[in-house]
Parts: sequence; structure tokens; C-alpha cells
Amino acid sequence: MRVLLLGTAAGGGFPQWNCACRLCSACRAGDPAVPARTQDCLAVSADGADWYLVNASPDIRAQVLATPALDAGPGPRDTPLKGALLTDAELDHTLGLMLLREGGGLRVFAPAAVLSALADQFPVRGTVARYGAWTWESEVDIPGLSVTSFAVSDKKPKYAADSAVPGPWVVAHRITDPATGGALVYAPCLREWPAGFDEFVAGADVVLLDGTFFSRAEMTGTGTSTSAQRAMGHVPIDGPDGSLARIRRHSGIRWCYTHLNNTNPVLDSSSPEFATVRDEGVEVPPDGTEFMV
Ligand code: MLT
Ligand code: MN
Ligand code: ZN
Repeated sequence: MRVLLLGTAAGGGFPQWNCACRLCSACRAGDPAVPARTQDCLAVSADGADWYLVNASPDIRAQVLATPALDAGPGPRDTPLKGALLTDAELDHTLGLMLLREGGGLRVFAPAAVLSALADQFPVRGTVARYGAWTWESEVDIPGLSVTSFAVSDKKPKYAADSAVPGPWVVAHRITDPATGGALVYAPCLREWPAGFDEFVAGADVVLLDGTFFSRAEMTGTGTSTSAQRAMGHVPIDGPDGSLARIRRHSGIRWCYTHLNNTNPVLDSSSPEFATVRDEGVEVPPDGTEFMV
């Protein structure tokens, strides 16, 4: 299986358009230790010919154009992009669907609650239906790959806060290539470290994990509160109940942080926080990284 990391930033991207914090400013100034990142999105392929997105970033057009494997062709309206698999209904993971409306026949796989939000509160389904026939499925069926999903939480997007549809609203996916036995886990939205997640990732080759925040206190300096950060539903990297402490218990897995918020000091590879992560053997791969699993 080929895996292409199309984007690695949280919602808003990095730098964020309306942010002049130290990190966003250093990135804008071209500091090579602080590279720009687009909003998190992944592309996977069993055969290198047909590709499926995992989440659909608002940056999808630029991401596709930057990725030769996703070039259109060989026919005038052919595309190797066959569909998308979603982890949640958040705008940073679903706005890209609107931007793919020129493509007919895409298959979208997502939990039932996410599909309901994309029909009701954020009506992508009815909208793209006027451009081309897509299918919307709650059972994942990607040719050549096997996918199991883990229910992470019932955290609804803000725009769907009033929905009464039962969850899970957020899942993680484990994508396995039966031909190689390789397995990849994509989990960009973890509220705390869920019970059963250690078992879910066991034996995987690569885990792409929620790296939104380094510390619980990170949002306080930017005028938002710690409770707001918790409400955003992202386990921090650092601290006794952070993800790095849980990663330490596993060996043989290539751990990578993604969905990095513009406040996260690991965005700067010259920071002590980046060194803390690197010294644990955990990666913070840039946009465009490819994995073979
Ligand atoms: C999240 O990751 O918590 C959401 O994407 C927040 C947002 O709306 O950007
Ligand atoms: Mn997000
Ligand atoms: Zn910033």
C-alpha cells in the first residue's frame, strides 16, 4: 500500500491566515525550521493506480496538484481519485468534498452520524448531487484494502451541535493491505487516549496520530482557555496523560504526529518541544511524506 501524507496541519492550516503568533510569523518569514503545512489529509492506494482520500481537506485542490500520483488522465476526464474515507464531520475534514464536485462517481465512506451531518447541517450530499452522482456508504468497501474502524468519541462539530443522531461521531481507521500484511492507523482526532486504542494500534506499521496540541495549557496564551482546548477534543502530546506517555508503551510502530495546530511548538524543528518528541523516536513528518506499508 502506498500512503501519501497530503497535509499535516489542523483546521486553519499553518500559517493560519488571521494569525500573527510567533510560529505563524516565523513560517511566513520563511524560517526553514518552521515549514508551512496544509490541513490534514491522506491518500492511500493498494495498487498505485486507484487512490482514496482519508478526509477531504479544504486544501484538497492544491494538495492534488502537488501530488503527481493524483494527476488527471489518461482520458480527458479520468482521475485516479476514486473516493474518500472520513474520520469525522469537522469542516477541516469535509470542506474538500465540495471542492471535488467536478468529479463524478466518487464513493464516500463515513460513520452514519457523519453522513447525517453531511445531509442536514452541512448539506454537501444534496449539493454535489446536482453536479454528479456520488455514493455515500457507512460500510467501508475499498477494493484491495481492508479497513476496520474504532469509535473514538461522540464529539460533534460545532455546526452540528444540535444533532440528535447517535454516534460515533469520530472514528480512527486501521487500513490493511492483505497483499503485504502492512497496516496503517489514521487517528487525527483523539479526545484523551481511548480505552481499547492500545489494542487497536497493536502490530500496525505506521500510526498517524492526533498532534494538535503539545500541552494542555497551549491555548491559554492565545486568549482561549484550557477548557476550550479540552472541549476541542484533542489529547495533548505532553504530560502524564498525554499521548507521548502512551506511545512509549509500544515498540515496533512508526509513530507520527499530524493535525498540528498553529499553536503547537513542535511545528518549529529547533524547539525543545520538537526535541522531546524526536528523542522518543516519534516523527513530525512534513506534507508530501510517502510511506510504503
Ligand atoms: C477540531 O479538530 O477540533 C476541529 O476541526 C475544530 C475546527 O472546527 O477547526
Ligand atoms: Mn480539526
Ligand atoms: Zn499562529
